[in-house]
Amino acid sequence: MPSLYEPFSLGDLALSNRIVMAPLTRSRANAQLEPTDLAVTYYQQRASAGLIITEASQVCPEGQGYVSTPGIYSAGQIAGWRRVTDAVHAAGGKICIQLWHVGRISHRYFQPNHAAPVAPSAIAAKAKVFTPDGLEDCSEPRALTADEITCLVSIYAQAARNAQQAGFDMIELHGANGYLIDQFLRDQSNRRTDAFGGSIENRIRFPLAVIDALCQVYPPHRVGIRLSPAATVHDCEDSAPMDVFSTLVGELGSRRLGYLHFIEGQTRGPRDWRPEVDLQWLKGVFRESGGLTVMANNGYDRHMAEQAVASGAADLVAFGVPFIANPDLVLRLQRGVALNQADSSTFYKGGPKGYIDYPFYSE
Ligand SMILES: Cc1cc2nc3c(=O)[nH]c(=O)nc-3n(C[C@H](O)[C@H](O)[C@H](O)COP(=O)(O)O)c2cc1C
Repeated sequence: MPSLYEPFSLGDLALSNRIVMAPLTRSRANAQLEPTDLAVTYYQQRASAGLIITEASQVCPEGQGYVSTPGIYSAGQIAGWRRVTDAVHAAGGKICIQLWHVGRISHRYFQPNHAAPVAPSAIAAKAKVFTPDGLEDCSEPRALTADEITCLVSIYAQAARNAQQAGFDMIELHGANGYLIDQFLRDQSNRRTDAFGGSIENRIRFPLAVIDALCQVYPPHRVGIRLSPAATVHDCEDSAPMDVFSTLVGELGSRRLGYLHFIEGQTRGPRDWRPEVDLQWLKGVFRESGGLTVMANNGYDRHMAEQAVASGAADLVAFGVPFIANPDLVLRLQRGVALNQADSSTFYKGGPKGYIDYPFYSE
């Protein structure tokens, strides 16, 4: 039986174990939205993870919707990330960047010239975003033109080239949690009548075009995708999620993608959210179509993760909040020792507190 603590070959990438650090926005980039020395320390502290997935990083200025989130589009950002990947590699780890565009989950405050955020359709999300003035409603977006959609595919491809320059082992497309890719997939947020909306084939067109562009930069087995088919966070709803996601994961599998990363249930909420969305079945579709690896996330503890890997339900398990509070999570899980508890008041607060000061285990 496979074990959580055994090495794993993700294509040609050798992971030292099957425990993954989930992507975690920490809002600590500098004014130019570059990762700083604090990020170098934070990620290096967690390098014993089999794979680190970075916090979501916007592929262009319009892709931002939160305070102080790093980008991967400027020279300074690439240089900042290079210091992070060098530190993780020096510590023996592997690191993947999560490529992000928030779409309509944004506010004019974050947008160049305070323009409206962009989205598949001009429908405001019933969701809030944190601005420096506090929690505010998402701004009403404007619909992207077809030309702009084509241009966005190139922007993602450029971000992948930047990631390569920054030394990342892999890239993960953020297709979860109601952000831009997810907005295209769902019929509630995508009401387009052109080639990018309407039928399932049309709604998956932009996400697949992005995946194909990323696979021109990194080989497909070094490209992953994160999806949350059952989640309804950030006002992402679909009338028939199984139909759209089964078609999508079949297409992704046939491209022999490195991994499919599922948030199971409601992100940070109940795992049995929308039980009609059969995630185990969707994983099977991905694998049967040629997909390499399945990664599971959301509310896993030690026992659940060990079981998931041993049973073959997942090849890799990603931990989010436990990795915030436990830089040495792998050792703690393996030895079965107590975990530090995370302080949620410092999740997005900036500065070293609650970021690089969680204690390592000592006998
Ligand atoms: C502080 C915080 C920031 C997060 N940022 C991201 C992110 O940047 N990208 C993403 O896909 N998910 C993000 N998530 C979701 C986590 O990756 C993960 O799905 C969630 O915490 C559930 O896993 P867990 O129960 O192991 O914590 C974030 C969660 C938290 C708590």
